[in-house]
Amino acid sequence: MSVAVLVPAAGRGERLGPGAPKALREVGGEPLLRHALRSLGAAPEVDLLVVAGPPGDLAATEAACAGTGALVVAGGTDRRASVAAALRALPPEVDVVLVSDAARPFVPVELVQRVVATVAAGAPAVVPGLPVADTVKQVDGTGHVVATPPRELLRAVQTPQGFARVVLERAHALPAELLVTDDAGLVEALGLPVLVVPGAPEAFKVTRPEDVEAAEALLRRRGA
Ligand code: C5P
Repeated sequence: MSVAVLVPAAGRGERLGPGAPKALREVGGEPLLRHALRSLGAAPEVDLLVVAGPPGDLAATEAACAGTGALVVAGGTDRRASVAAALRALPPEVDVVLVSDAARPFVPVELVQRVVATVAAGAPAVVPGLPVADTVKQVDGTGHVVATPPRELLRAVQTPQGFARVVLERAHALPAELLVTDDAGLVEALGLPVLVVPGAPEAFKVTRPEDVEAAEALLRRRGA
């Protein structure tokens, strides 16, 4: 088995406010991307890291990756295109592919290992998920509720998501108009099963300014 982790890191991070691309924003004096690569690379099962950076700003991404051994490629205009660009850069021997957001700096090594082991055991697609605390409503374009799915059946899904390489390649060959917010969504569109395994609160995504504060607090706790 040969395992690669693709790290989409080409997002602007507009919900974080003005500034550098999100993956290059710093917490604890280091870019989010560098934290993410350290977390993901800590799993001995991981053989290769491929980062998709902002196409116009690859030098800064390369600097953030210095010394990590990660391969850096130019990403695309949306997350799906960035993952596809990283997928095209994989050497032929890779047969298990994980995709993990640069914006999730503190993925625990056990979570990486759980996802890899579940794909290695034969699951075509695996996603980590957590139970949701809030009741979630589906609404229409006018804001009216159309459905309230039973809360115990819902999961908030994280990364790393893991795939047999052939499955992820087939998923990314689907028409580009198919807009999804995660790679598992493409595999669902193929009609293949996607298995949810337990996620981890530490694998939260840095999206808004308060998430940066949460990341700084987590680092302070770890340093204590
Ligand atoms: O915007 P969101 O937080 O959902 O982005 C998730 C991940 O996708 C981030 O790591 C971001 O850098 C990445 N992304 C990307 N290329 C884009 C847009 C987002 O690699 N064009």
